[in-house]
Amino acid sequence: MLEQVKSLVLEASRLCGRQELSVYSKGGNSNFVTTADLQVENYLKERLPALLPGSRFLGEESDHGDDAGCRHTQEYLWVVDPIDGTSNFIRELNLSAISIGLVHHGEPVLGVVYNPFTQEMYCAEAGRGAFLNGRPIRVSDRDFSHAHFCTSFSIYQKEFAPPCFRILERVYAQCDDMRRLGSAALELCTVARGSTELYFELRLFPWDYCGALAILKEAGGYYAPVPIERGLLQSPTPMVAANSKENGERLFQIVAEELSKVSLA
Ligand code: IPD
Ligand code: CA
Ligand code: CA
Repeated sequence: MLEQVKSLVLEASRLCGRQELSVYSKGGNSNFVTTADLQVENYLKERLPALLPGSRFLGEESDHGDDAGCRHTQEYLWVVDPIDGTSNFIRELNLSAISIGLVHHGEPVLGVVYNPFTQEMYCAEAGRGAFLNGRPIRVSDRDFSHAHFCTSFSIYQKEFAPPCFRILERVYAQCDDMRRLGSAALELCTVARGSTELYFELRLFPWDYCGALAILKEAGGYYAPVPIERGLLQSPTPMVAANSKENGERLFQIVAEELSKVSLA
C-alpha cells in the first residue's frame, strides 16, 4: 500500500510545474490556490480511493459541502493537501510538499509527505517505522533548552495572532532558537527527522497535519491529544508536537495557559 501511495505522489508531483501557473486568492491574507494545487488534488482524488475499497477522500481544495468523510470515521479516509506551503511554491522558495494521510478510526495510520523540489520523501506506516528517502528516521533526544521551535502566527486570520506571539515569546526564552518554514507538513517532518524539536500552530486543518503525524508517531515523536475527529469537521485545531513526551507536555502547558486567556470563537 505504502509503495503504491509513494508512486502516486511521484506521478502527481509532475503536475507541480510553475510554468503557466495561475494563482487565485481564496480570500483573506496570503491564502492562495494555484492551478497546480487543483491538478495534484484531482489526480490523487481519482486514484487514492481505488487503492482501498470503501475508503473516502478529504482534500483541501475539494468541496466539503456534506462533510463527506466526517460522518464515516469507521471507514478509512484519505486526507490530502495537494500543496502544503502554497505561498512558498508561488515564491519559488522550494519548501512545499504534497501531503497524504490515511486515517482509520480517527488515527493517522499511513503518511507520505513529499517535497518535489528537494526530492525528499518522508513516509511511514503504523508499526513499520518512519523513513526519509528509504533511510529510517528518528526524533532527536535534545532537551527543551537545546530545542528548535517551529511555529506560525495564524496567517489567514491575524486576529488570532497575539496569543501565538506570547507563546513564541515564552518558548523562545526557554529554548535554543525558532524556525518558520511555511509548510506545516514539512515542519512536523523536521521534528520526525530529528532536526527540530518543538512545534505549535493555533489553527491547523487535518490536511495540514494528518500525513506528517503518521510519520512523527512512527519516528518516536509526541503530539498533543488533539481530537482529530473534530478536526475532520472542518474546524481548525491547535496542534502541539515535540520530539519527546516531556518536551511536548511542557510546550502544551505554555500553550494551554496562553490560550485560556483569550477567546478563540
Ligand atoms: C499552510 C502552511 C503554513 C501554515 C498554515 C497552512 P497551505 O498550508 O502549512 O505553514 O502556517 O496554517 O494553512 O495553505 O500552504 O496549504
Ligand atoms: Ca496546508
Ligand atoms: Ca494547501
